[in-house]
Amino acid sequence: MDVPDSSRPDPSRPDLFQSTAPELAVVIPVLNEAANVAPLVGRLRHTLVGTRWEAIFVDDGSTDGTRATIAALGAADTRIRLVHRMGRTGLASAFVEGAMASLAPVIAVMDGDLQHDEALLPAMLDVLRAGRADVVIGSRYVEGGGSQGLSASRARLSEFATRLSQLATRVPVADPMSGFFMLPRTVFDRAAPRLSAIGFKILLDVLASLPTPPRVVELPFHFRAREAGHSKLDTGVAFDFGLLLLDKLLGGLLPVRFVVFAAIGALGVLAHLAVLWLALRAGLAFGAAQGTATAAAIAGNFALNNAITFRDRRLKRWRALRGFATFAVACGFGALANLNVAELMVRAGHETWWVAGLVGAAMSLVWNYAVGSTLTWRKR
Ligand code: GDD
Ligand code: MN
Repeated sequence: MDVPDSSRPDPSRPDLFQSTAPELAVVIPVLNEAANVAPLVGRLRHTLVGTRWEAIFVDDGSTDGTRATIAALGAADTRIRLVHRMGRTGLASAFVEGAMASLAPVIAVMDGDLQHDEALLPAMLDVLRAGRADVVIGSRYVEGGGSQGLSASRARLSEFATRLSQLATRVPVADPMSGFFMLPRTVFDRAAPRLSAIGFKILLDVLASLPTPPRVVELPFHFRAREAGHSKLDTGVAFDFGLLLLDKLLGGLLPVRFVVFAAIGALGVLAHLAVLWLALRAGLAFGAAQGTATAAAIAGNFALNNAITFRDRRLKRWRALRGFATFAVACGFGALANLNVAELMVRAGHETWWVAGLVGAAMSLVWNYAVGSTLTWRKR
């Protein structure tokens, strides 16, 4: 018998299909937030009733069962999605990759620790729907907002960083350090090719990367205190912030990592001379003193690059030993290249000694950086 199945739409009438595609993607970077993700999803379900939304969790290797919790939520609700990244960290790049894993025309980002007030999301969406802004920010520093969740020292730091970052954004924003904002995908796409995606100041990055200054609306919210889990932002975060500003100011001309590597290399030259002087005064023969100074400079450079330049790929324990060995060998070849190039130039006869010296040094710098970034601190 041919009984039409009324529960199934007629495939020849696509207009009868109801779209299930999300209009809003909420990107939520998480790192060890097992106790927070389920309550957060509960709150999103509640506050976003009537909106087609999806939550995209971006996890960088949590070890506390966060992913299992997300998987359990996702097994019952297709709006819950997960991007699991390996060997990577960073709030900013987590946001970018989460946003790119979605097709939703509107993208929001918020923390996964319940410190951001999800109840603000519908109002943010309304502002965008009305076409009143290119970026809507959940702001702690406009009338009606607050940051009770920040310690006094963090609050002071945040205030200072806010002032610094206004140099890079070109638009007056009360809270450019907020990690809670929403924007249309068209705006995100315009910023995406120029994003630095360093560290965790993603809003600042977006504002500074847009080819024309965006129209910004800030809505107040209260930054809540964290109840479960721990903050991931350590002192290195201040350094990442410096890198991001530097990258924005360099305008992408030079990779900021290279600039830092070169600065540490210059420090290494000073360290070399200092150790050489000390060793000579201690009575070592020149050869032995020079060898000691070279070893000290290489070890110091390795430690600083491991702690700073490549802090996102930091080597620990036996990996650090192996890394040090590759770095030391690379530096040896770098020095050879330096000598050869400089000598060639001098022999060619038309170069002054210091030009030859500088070109040789630049050669070994580029060589050391190339080996450092592709071998010693390669992406895992
Ligand atoms: N995927 C991923 N990778 N997530 C991360 C990482 C990471 O490397 N680091 C932190 N997170 C997640 C945390 O799990 C949390 O959900 C969110 O990012 C914020 O991290 P917190 O460690 O809680 O940061 P916070 O509370 O100190 O910083 C907040 O205040 C800043 C403004 O002062 C955040 O809201 C920031 O976004 C905000 O800029
Ligand atoms: Mn937090």
